[in-house]
Amino acid sequence: MIFLTGVTVLLFALTVDARVGESTSDSFCTETKECLQYDLVCAGKEYEVRHYGAVKWVTTEAESIFMDVAIPKAFRKLLKYITGENEAGAKIDMTAPVIIKVNASATMLQSSVYVLSFLLPSEYQANPPKPTDPSVYFTDTPDMKMYVRSYGGWMMSVVAKSQAKSLKTALDSLKATYETDYYYNVGFNSPMKLLNRHNEVWFIPKGEPVCPKSE
Ligand SMILES: *[C@@H]1O[C@H](CO)[C@@H](O)[C@H](O)[C@H]1NC(C)=O
Repeated sequence: MIFLTGVTVLLFALTVDARVGESTSDSFCTETKECLQYDLVCAGKEYEVRHYGAVKWVTTEAESIFMDVAIPKAFRKLLKYITGENEAGAKIDMTAPVIIKVNASATMLQSSVYVLSFLLPSEYQANPPKPTDPSVYFTDTPDMKMYVRSYGGWMMSVVAKSQAKSLKTALDSLKATYETDYYYNVGFNSPMKLLNRHNEVWFIPKGEPVCPKSE
């Protein structure tokens, strides 16, 4: 009985670790030691469907008319958290991706809240040190499937919006249903990387996801 319990605990620990893992398994996740892992469900030209496990993030938010203004502010706060401004004084590795939750109904030239999250590395998934900044907090994303569209270059507001629109068009044409209140802009690269940059837009499926048409 004791032996069985031990095995169960070990299996559970392995499962948790597998959600955030070595970056080598992913061609576009090259800059950090660990990345968010997923299983590919199906892929087409316009988008793919992925399956992610439940993970924990460190999060903050900033409000602006422009995403490009809000994000650097929020980014600095999270950078402080991982570089030691936490109750343990711990230095926490940067991981990828970084995700930005975007209010889908906010129109152009309207101030909007952008919620930025850094993925916690596997070492800190279960028990991250408390932030000292009260505007920094933890969020959990559940085990979920995701509609994902990838693009290169820089994630400027206009580009990200147009990619979200393309994903929406592709999903609508297949009558796929998804969360319409918000979506995610997802970045994998530091500003220092100039070539082969990789970004994504994520829509959350409602109900069983629809696979893209095969070409
Ligand atoms: C999203 O934007 C709409 C339109 O401005 C606003 O009414 C709504 O409260 C916002 N939702 C959130 C969660 O901020």
